[in-house]
Amino acid sequence: MKFFIDTANLDQIKEAQSLGILDGVTTNPSLMAKEGITGQDNILQHYVDICNIVDGDVSAEVISTDFEGMVREGEALAALHDQIVIKLPMIKDGVKACKYFSSKGIKTNVTLVFSAGQALLAAKAGATYVSPFIGRLDDISTDGLHLISEIRHIYDNYGFETEILAASVRHTMHVIDCAKIGADVMTGPLSSIVGLLKHPLTDSGLAQFLADYQKGN
Ligand code: G3P
Repeated sequence: MKFFIDTANLDQIKEAQSLGILDGVTTNPSLMAKEGITGQDNILQHYVDICNIVDGDVSAEVISTDFEGMVREGEALAALHDQIVIKLPMIKDGVKACKYFSSKGIKTNVTLVFSAGQALLAAKAGATYVSPFIGRLDDISTDGLHLISEIRHIYDNYGFETEILAASVRHTMHVIDCAKIGADVMTGPLSSIVGLLKHPLTDSGLAQFLADYQKGN
């Protein structure tokens, strides 16, 4: 299972990268705005800065909603760095743009996916990644993890190579449940990654080992 961090915060990306278990980064316009990154030149430079920190794929989202605009923007993003993955919204022109980029061998991430049918379309369009938003489904009393199971089942039925990127992950149990179901990737905040480290028996066990070592030395 790949671990992506879902942030545009460079310090958090560096911290996750320093653990040695980070496989990539996802961003979106809201995460960029949260870090105060505004203006096209600054946003493009920020993507390059992120690529220079991590080794894996970095999703960069288009803001156009028409095919021509998505192609223009996506090509400019792809030219920034070979780690860039073009993030496209699950709308009609997004599907068309996904097919366009996938047939050119450019990686894509179809985002804002909330149903199995949308995920099926993304796979048919050759998406590298499909991003079902599990936290936002949970927010409206709909089981986000069930969607991951449905997509896994459908993709396995037909051998689709599109990777299921569980997005809008909010906490450690989302990560663990996605791993049980067989999501290929999860993207979440730093807390959902480092939270996996924590267990009180690890802390008390280590304290005991160190105390016993001190007694004998
Ligand atoms: O990866 C999608 C993500 O950025 C959305 O997360 O927490 O805003 O639903 P959230």
